[in-house]
Amino acid sequence: MSSQAVTPVRVAVLISGTGSNMAALIDAAQQTDSGYEVALVLSNIEGAGGLAVAAAKGVATATAPHRPFGKDREAHERAVDAVLRDAGIEVVALAGYMRVLTSWLVGGWRGRMLNIHPSLLPLYPGLDTHARAIAAGDAEAGCTVHLVTEGVDEGPILGQARVAIVAGDTPEALAERVKTAEHELYPRMLAAFCRDLERG
Ligand code: GRF
Repeated sequence: MSSQAVTPVRVAVLISGTGSNMAALIDAAQQTDSGYEVALVLSNIEGAGGLAVAAAKGVATATAPHRPFGKDREAHERAVDAVLRDAGIEVVALAGYMRVLTSWLVGGWRGRMLNIHPSLLPLYPGLDTHARAIAAGDAEAGCTVHLVTEGVDEGPILGQARVAIVAGDTPEALAERVKTAEHELYPRMLAAFCRDLERG
């Protein structure tokens, strides 16, 4: 075993909104020997709140708006991909990136793209996960970190965190508690993933 320090894996985080998971991923990388660094935060939304948060933490940001591409999702993804490749990104972490990906982008990053989803997959893929879990009378909710494949929220599961659903829970209250769990789970899963990553 060499004692030489390993260069941190260059991660890009893709966001569309506030980016609280993105912030947790940056904080963990900056505070601990996590084995990865957030080298870029990219958003499809100009002015997304998370971009300013990332910049304040000293992380490079980029915007690749989808609107100019209309219905041509792959053309937009080619623009995103060019930014990722130019930045020497090795792993992509989706964190509230509200785009359904085509097989072109998924294929290009197969085995190197992670997502976090606010449910205990395979339960409740898609939207409104907390309301659906409460309506079903579930005792538990949670979050899942998984590899991204062509099926939305379907890829191999890397890890989950569980949160109790309590009497009188609202989707908003549950979402907040699940978010706290997300902020612990995602950095831990990303660090473990990057430690095991085979680099070319
Ligand atoms: C999180 O709940 C995540 O699980 C889902 O989108 C939300 C993003 O929230 N994919 P934030 O922008 O990280 O606060």
